[in-house]
Amino acid sequence: MNIAIETVKNSRLKDVDLSNIPFGRVFTDHMFVMDYYDGAWRDARIEGVSKMEMHPANMTLHYGQSIFEGMKASKNADGVPLLFRAEMHAKRMNASAERMCMPTIDEELFVEALRQLLALEKDWIPDMEGSALYIRPFMFATDEFLGVAPSQTYRFMILTLPVAPYYAHPVKLLASTEFIRAAEGGVGEAKTSGNYAASLYASKLAKEQGYDQVLWLDGVHHKYVQEVGTMNIFFHIGDKIITPQTDGAILKGITRDSFLHILQHWGYEVEERLISMEEVIEAHQNGTLKEVFGSGTAAVAAQVSEISYKKQTIKLNISEDNLAERLKTEINGLRKGDRDDIFGWIEPVLQTENA
Ligand code: COI
Repeated sequence: MNIAIETVKNSRLKDVDLSNIPFGRVFTDHMFVMDYYDGAWRDARIEGVSKMEMHPANMTLHYGQSIFEGMKASKNADGVPLLFRAEMHAKRMNASAERMCMPTIDEELFVEALRQLLALEKDWIPDMEGSALYIRPFMFATDEFLGVAPSQTYRFMILTLPVAPYYAHPVKLLASTEFIRAAEGGVGEAKTSGNYAASLYASKLAKEQGYDQVLWLDGVHHKYVQEVGTMNIFFHIGDKIITPQTDGAILKGITRDSFLHILQHWGYEVEERLISMEEVIEAHQNGTLKEVFGSGTAAVAAQVSEISYKKQTIKLNISEDNLAERLKTEINGLRKGDRDDIFGWIEPVLQTENA
């Protein structure tokens, strides 16, 4: 499909301080848009970021058919934008689409849209350590209809935004025994907006008690660790690195998958399995719990400094040579082309014909 491009006359880049950007508020000049109607994706285009008109009966507003991805792009030393695991994001977006009864997108078109947008917005990619261009592909229903059924029409868009690291300090987690994010058979594995809405109330209460985030536990026993919502989670216990197995209720994080590959490549024994809060507390008590960290596109690798569960609190000392920092350096290095791309995750975006 041809992508029509209409560039803006005046870039806003000159008014933006790329060294001081709050997460999620500063957008680049252009966005990708295409619409689904009469059974096919149509009218692929790149245009200036602008507001959209919406009918009050737009189905997304009422029944929440909305999915998204979070990706990052960096520039290498020659200023060439690099895409990171774009095909895997396309596949995960399509898995979310299937789960939410939404149309899938041709993977090649998804990646081509990213290439063309990045080629146009490459000057917006920040150079500072830990900063990147965050990419937000998303899709939502556009039918104007109040019956509960899958919409017949949809819009797919991609926004890009320069970002600094999501968490500026180690995080304190409250393992909730009162609220759940997702249960087996639900939509926890889909990257759908409702999962984030469902997390807000418990997160608000946790923040009021001085925590940064909720550590979600399984919906049946409130015992087995799931994820943090903005991140997946890893435990370094003894010589092993353990992360909860994905079971339908946990997001299949692409940074999670990347860390599993890197850790195995470094010779660590990694386990994807059920891990209970009792096991974590016991490992802390017997001195084998070395480190806990989260993984996510926005968060990259975030140290956990504290976890509270049923009135017990684990405080973690963060060592100089912690694994999260090593993983962060490694994945940021791969993203910036400073490391050999041994896993084949990087695609340089060369100037396209259109841009
Ligand atoms: C990401 O890491 O890209 C996410 O989607 C989490 C986001 C909600 C901050």
